[in-house]
Amino acid sequence: MAPSALETWRSQVPALQGRWYFNYGGQGVLHQQVLDAIQQSFAYCESQGSFSGVINHWITEELAQTRHAIAVELGVAAETITLTENTTTGCNIALWSLPWQPGDRLLLTDCEHPGIVAIAAQLQQRFGIVPQFVPVLGLESDAAIIAAIQHHWHPQIKALMISHVLWNTGQILPLKAIADWCHQQGALVIVDAAQSVGVLPLDLTALGVDAYAFTGHKWWCGPVGLGGLYLEPNFQAAGQPLFVGWRGLSSSKNLLPVPSWQPNGAKFEVASSCYPLLAGLRTALDLQRQLGTAQERYDRLTKLSQWLWQHLHELPHIRPIRQTPPPTGLVSFEVVGAAPNALMQRLETQERLLIRALPHPLCLRASIHAAVLESELEHLVMVLSR
Ligand SMILES: Cc1ncc(COP(=O)(O)O)c(C=O)c1O
Repeated sequence: MAPSALETWRSQVPALQGRWYFNYGGQGVLHQQVLDAIQQSFAYCESQGSFSGVINHWITEELAQTRHAIAVELGVAAETITLTENTTTGCNIALWSLPWQPGDRLLLTDCEHPGIVAIAAQLQQRFGIVPQFVPVLGLESDAAIIAAIQHHWHPQIKALMISHVLWNTGQILPLKAIADWCHQQGALVIVDAAQSVGVLPLDLTALGVDAYAFTGHKWWCGPVGLGGLYLEPNFQAAGQPLFVGWRGLSSSKNLLPVPSWQPNGAKFEVASSCYPLLAGLRTALDLQRQLGTAQERYDRLTKLSQWLWQHLHELPHIRPIRQTPPPTGLVSFEVVGAAPNALMQRLETQERLLIRALPHPLCLRASIHAAVLESELEHLVMVLSR
C-alpha cells in the first residue's frame, strides 16, 4: 500500500489518533468501517424485530459468509471452521473433545500461554493425563526445536498443544515438520494460533495440523468476542463436543442416546451469540487485504520488526530477548534496571505509548503490525533511548 494510502487508512482508526499503539498481539485496533458494520448489523436486526424469520435467515447467511471468509484466509474448506469467541475457547473445544485415558500424555512447550496451560491442568485433574513440557525458550532454529521435541518424546504422548508463533519471543515453530513427526508417532497436533493468524501467510491444508485455534481480535483487527477453530475433517468427525446446544444439532428429534450433529464446524458451536460481530470481522478482513496480500503484510511487518530489533540492540541499556532477528511482529526486550510493569504503565500514562509487559521471560513486548509506520518505530526507539 502506498504511504499516503496507509496514512488515510490509519486516519480512520480511532485508537491510532494521538497514541503510539504497539499492542496488536494483545488486541488489534478497530477501523471505523468495522465499527460501522457492527452498528449497522445491530440496527438491521432491531429494525426487523430480532427474533423473526427475516433475521433467522440473515443469521444463517452471516454465519456461512463468515466461515467462508475465514476459510479463504486459512486455505481450508468452510466446513472445517467452527466459530468461537476467542483462541482459548478453540483450544478448549479441541482438547476436551478427545477420549483421554489416565496416563495419556499431552506435550506442551514451556512457552504456552497461561490460559492454555490451565486447560492441561484441568485435564490432569479430570482424566489423570500427564502434561509434559518441552523447553523451547531460546531456541531459534527449526532443527533445534524439532530435536527438542524428539528428545522429549514419550510413547504415551497422545497430543501436542503448541503455539504456531510463541507469544513471548515471536519464534515460529516448524509446524509441518512437527506435524509429520507426531503423526508418525500416532499423536495429534493442536495449535494455538493466537499470534500467527493475521501475521503469517497460511495454508493449513499443507501444514497438516489437526486443530488450529485463533481469534479475530488480534492481528486481523476484528471485534473482540469472535474467533474460530479449524478442525481437520477426521478430527471433527471423531471429536465429542463438551459444551453443546441447538447450533450444533442437525435435528432436534431423537436426541437420546446420541444427538445427530451438524456435519461441519457448527457441530462444536453452542447457541445464540453476538451475530452483529460477524459483519465486523468480515469488514476487518477486507481492510487487512487493503494493506496488501498476506505475504506482503508479513514481509512488511517483519521488515519493520527487524529494524526495531536492530535499533534496540544498539541501545546500551536494552537487551532484546532474541539473539537473531525476529521472524514475526513480536519484539521482546529487557530494559536494564527497569521493572517491565512499571515502565509499561509509565509509557502509557506519560507518553501515550502502548506496549505490554510479559511475565515469562520478564520483559516488554512491542507488537508490530503491517499498519505500523516507520516513523512510529523511530519514535519508540527515541522514547526508549531516554
Ligand atoms: C499464544 C496465546 N494464546 C492465547 C492467548 C489468549 O487469546 P484469546 O483471548 O484469544 O483466547 C493469547 C493472547 O493473549 C496468546 O498470545
